[in-house]
Amino acid sequence: MSPVFVAIDTPDVARARALVDAVAGHVGGIKLGLEYFVANGPAGVAALAGLPTFIDLKFHDIPNTVAGAVRSLAALQPAVLTVHAAGGRAMLEAAKAAALPGCKVVAVTVLTSLDDGDLSDIGVGGDVAAQVARLAALARASGLDGIVCSPHEVAAAKAVWPEGYFVVPGVRPAGSDIGDQKRVMTPAEALAAGASMLVIGRPITGAADPAAAARAIAASL
Ligand code: C5P
Repeated sequence: MSPVFVAIDTPDVARARALVDAVAGHVGGIKLGLEYFVANGPAGVAALAGLPTFIDLKFHDIPNTVAGAVRSLAALQPAVLTVHAAGGRAMLEAAKAAALPGCKVVAVTVLTSLDDGDLSDIGVGGDVAAQVARLAALARASGLDGIVCSPHEVAAAKAVWPEGYFVVPGVRPAGSDIGDQKRVMTPAEALAAGASMLVIGRPITGAADPAAAARAIAASL
């Protein structure tokens, strides 16, 4: 199965459905995030049924509430869902225990929008790299399946967690516009570095012909 999951970042169900229909057959699944989910809810997810679905809502709350949210999501049968590792061990264990057996529960460590100064502002000493390593180890020790990480972090993450499942955004086909992603790799490079899933949005969804873009990426792997 293709490791490519297309990020469908739109609040518009009809546009999302058209994108899913265009890329089906060329990708392994789709990723839906807060923008789509908050606008359209579970019914909006069901309206896109057909491909494996990564529901990226980054849960972070008390263990009982996160477990309930994971159980509520189970009706949609996500292939993958996300939680914040900073929610702590009990929350991570509760999330994993509440997920269906086939669903991968993956942790966000430090958002890539944060730098060392932001961590200091929220009372976290040390730098981003140390905090990413600390939270990745916590996710693993709590029984999660893996983490979200940048293409440049994945080789180091896999070295210490060989059986981990690594979700990697920030992937760009050779020659494409990198947009607001600062540090990118091609799909083939990211896979070679140890990525389990490649999350690719605008290079496919923003292409004049999304099906052709998805096909070209598949051919490059
Ligand atoms: O359009 P693009 O390929 O940049 O989309 C990447 C997707 O991965 C978006 O949904 C974005 O929110 C998500 N993401 C990211 N970088 C992270 C975490 C998530 O680009 N560090």
